[in-house]
Amino acid sequence: MKPDRKINGIIERDRKVISTTTREHYPFVASHGSGDFVYDVSGNKFIDFSTFIGVYTLGVNGNEQIRKAVKEQVDKLMHPAFTDFYSELPVTFSEKLLTMFPKGFGKVFLSNSGTEANEDAIKLARMFTKRQYMIAFYNSFHGRTMGSLGLTSSKIVQREHFGPFNSVIHAPYPDPYRMQDTSVCIDHIKKYILAKEASPKEVAAVFIEPIQGEGGYIVPPKEFMQELRELTADHGIMLVSDEVQAGYMKTGKFLAMDNFGVTADIYTMAKALGGGLPIGATIYRHEHGDMPAGSHANTFGGNLVSVAAANASLDYVKKNMASLQRMAKQKGAYIMGRLEEMKEAYEIVGDVRGIGMMIGLELVKSKSTKEPAVAERSKVLEACFRNGLLLLPCGASTIRVIPPITIDQKNLEKGMDVLEAAIKAATK
Ligand SMILES: Cc1ncc(COP(=O)(O)O)c(C=O)c1O
Repeated sequence: MKPDRKINGIIERDRKVISTTTREHYPFVASHGSGDFVYDVSGNKFIDFSTFIGVYTLGVNGNEQIRKAVKEQVDKLMHPAFTDFYSELPVTFSEKLLTMFPKGFGKVFLSNSGTEANEDAIKLARMFTKRQYMIAFYNSFHGRTMGSLGLTSSKIVQREHFGPFNSVIHAPYPDPYRMQDTSVCIDHIKKYILAKEASPKEVAAVFIEPIQGEGGYIVPPKEFMQELRELTADHGIMLVSDEVQAGYMKTGKFLAMDNFGVTADIYTMAKALGGGLPIGATIYRHEHGDMPAGSHANTFGGNLVSVAAANASLDYVKKNMASLQRMAKQKGAYIMGRLEEMKEAYEIVGDVRGIGMMIGLELVKSKSTKEPAVAERSKVLEACFRNGLLLLPCGASTIRVIPPITIDQKNLEKGMDVLEAAIKAATK
């Protein structure tokens, strides 16, 4: 398919009035969709392997239950001014959400996005510990507002012109594909950060993505996460697990951190949590305390339409936990199997990695140099798009393979065939 006049016209109008964001990969102009498919405004049909930036984990446009809950709520009341007045649905949802966390997690702050959930986590950690510094990781992405942006260190364009962010110190994130010895990462925190840069007594929190998302779908070794937990606990430093992208069943577990046998002190969630509507949540333990009234609030947190969607989605997840876990495992194994075969067959496929259905495929110029194949990745994304498959990039030259967990096996296979054909063509 080729971009037609309708598509080009919308993109032209967009460029005139919409503040530039990140849309640079291919000209997809969404119209409607459900389940495994989405259509553009010219009627072209696509299989979705992007979950629309990790949101449609249960299928494009949520599922029937989510849409029904939204429609019903719209006719009742949309905005309850939840931080000033009381309302039952956000309480019911938060009670339910807390059942997905280890014992002791008893408080939820509701917001509208991942970045906002992380802003709250920064404030909570500082308030609970009465300390200032935060440690985050190179390659990480925690959002683009001024607090979370200090933590983010994925691409220079995201930070350029906006600093300084002088309360955050970055450490290397263990990347088993590109590092010979990932134990240097914990050593770096111990030997350099805590011994030379910031006294442990002044560090409020370590923020970490259990799997780095935007930075390239990098899965750290289990021992690293466990050592990090030990180190933070030893110094009374709060461990914040940013589950915005990796959480909510993508790895086959509700919390991605559970894959490492680690419990954090604060969790942040967004993206898939709302099934397609904007919602963020910061979840923390009762024992740490609470904010004083007026210290942190917002206008739209607890918005009833978003919460209705999140509540219906969570009901679905709880009811179908076993089958979602099974699907994430089986379909994730199928994707990994196909990608491993591609890695064998094509020089350009450097690494495939992931847990469950959060999978990344890193393209390189050659397996020996591991030089990122940036232009080739664009070619692959473009070719997939032209052949009816939506994919998104991450990192320097990685492709996210994140279809909805509920995707039909036939559509999954078809999508993988399109991806393989595109990789084969880019290899020539
Ligand atoms: C791990 C992680 N944290 C935070 C964010 C920011 O979320 P939002 O775009 O909803 O502000 C993202 C977004 O991609 C993310 O992947």
